[in-house]
Amino acid sequence: MGGSTVLSGKRILLIIGGGIAAYKCLEVIRRLRDGGATVRCILTEAAQQFVTPLSVSALSGERVYTDLFSLTDESEMGHIRLSREADLVVVAPATADLIARMAAGLGGDLAGTALLATNKPVLIAPAMNVRMWEHPATQRNVAQLRKDGVATVGPEVGELADGEYGAGRLAEPATIVDAIETALGQLRVVPGGLDGPLAGKHALVTSGPTHEAIDPVRYLANRSSGKQGHAIAAALAAAGADTVLVTGPTHRADPPGVRVVAIESARAMLDACAAALPVDLAVCAAAVADWRVTEVADDKIKKSGGPQTLKLVENPDILAKLAAPGPNRPALVIGFAAETEDVAANAAAKRGRKGCDWIVANDVSQAAGTFGGEHNTVTLVTADGAEDWPRLSKADVAARLADHIVAHFAKARAKTRGKASGGAS
Ligand code: PMT
Repeated sequence: MGGSTVLSGKRILLIIGGGIAAYKCLEVIRRLRDGGATVRCILTEAAQQFVTPLSVSALSGERVYTDLFSLTDESEMGHIRLSREADLVVVAPATADLIARMAAGLGGDLAGTALLATNKPVLIAPAMNVRMWEHPATQRNVAQLRKDGVATVGPEVGELADGEYGAGRLAEPATIVDAIETALGQLRVVPGGLDGPLAGKHALVTSGPTHEAIDPVRYLANRSSGKQGHAIAAALAAAGADTVLVTGPTHRADPPGVRVVAIESARAMLDACAAALPVDLAVCAAAVADWRVTEVADDKIKKSGGPQTLKLVENPDILAKLAAPGPNRPALVIGFAAETEDVAANAAAKRGRKGCDWIVANDVSQAAGTFGGEHNTVTLVTADGAEDWPRLSKADVAARLADHIVAHFAKARAKTRGKASGGAS
């Protein structure tokens, strides 16, 4: 198995709650271990109705913890050690009851005490019936947890186990693992005080697709999932940058420590980016719709009206506007180039046209699977030439890009210092 730089060597404490979707955690464990992480699991009493400690233990390769008052557990591994030895605590499925107990700070069982005792970041993946999810009490509890710094992934919208339809499905294992990678990428961020090589820098990142309304129910969109853009925002925040992420509609978890502004259309994305200025660096990874309809219909367009022709008008180019010379131009502007042929050559031309400093070219042909996929193969095009990177996970592309950005600002700083000391002598 390939392994992931982000997951490799990391220790995850997975608290499995009692929900019908608990079986999906087995796949989460498998994926985490494939990535090189160690996974220890706590099963709540209710969880044991859905998955057995034996199957979880077999997959994790570790003993499974179930009982707060087990003397063996306490002598071998107390709940405090269990929660503190992890790099990240993950709760999945996070049932309405578990969420309520977390929000209230209740510690009546092993899961509760571990969550209270931990000094590590916590990520929850809620799953429940749609009415339970929408209930004001649950929404209040989730809002409280977010305020406490807990990250969330999902729930997703879809058919639920009880036959109802709506928000409440546990996020897919790949999405949960992705959110875990994002949260782990954040580990250097200290809440209330950023450190790292980009400390003091302000970063703006765009991510995801834009939705361009046709009428109140329909829109033009594209296949961007936000995985690449969100990973970049997470990596920049992990390096200490004060980061704003302007994102179109996606199912991505908010990267912890990143200020997220959710928008729908290209024009709203432009407004949100303008409001975020001034920044030191901007990375435009969003797949902004090039066109919108000239006039959005006030009412749903009827099929009975016969064949329709959509008249389109070009959207503003956010990257080109950010890169245009002016007092608010970020010192470093990085674009992405989504190409299906002559990737590097087209990207180099696009860099010139849009006026950005660097462009990250990626192949978005169907065969490459870049849109929505877990991996990306990119070429970094700068004024100095083109650098091909190997196929990497999107989190690793983001980490490598953040390293280049760190090196760029370090070089710029050294140059400024050199000039200053040269001038003084
Ligand atoms: O979201 P994922 O599923 O993870 O997929 C990632 C990705 C393929 C979307 C991402 O890696 C990527 O390539 N993003 C840019 C997509 C794109 O719109 O490329 P483009 O070649 O059409 O645009 C070039 C650049 O101009 C991009 O930086 C884009 O953000 C920007 N742009 C484009 C049009 C517009 N109106 N405004 C813009 O800012």
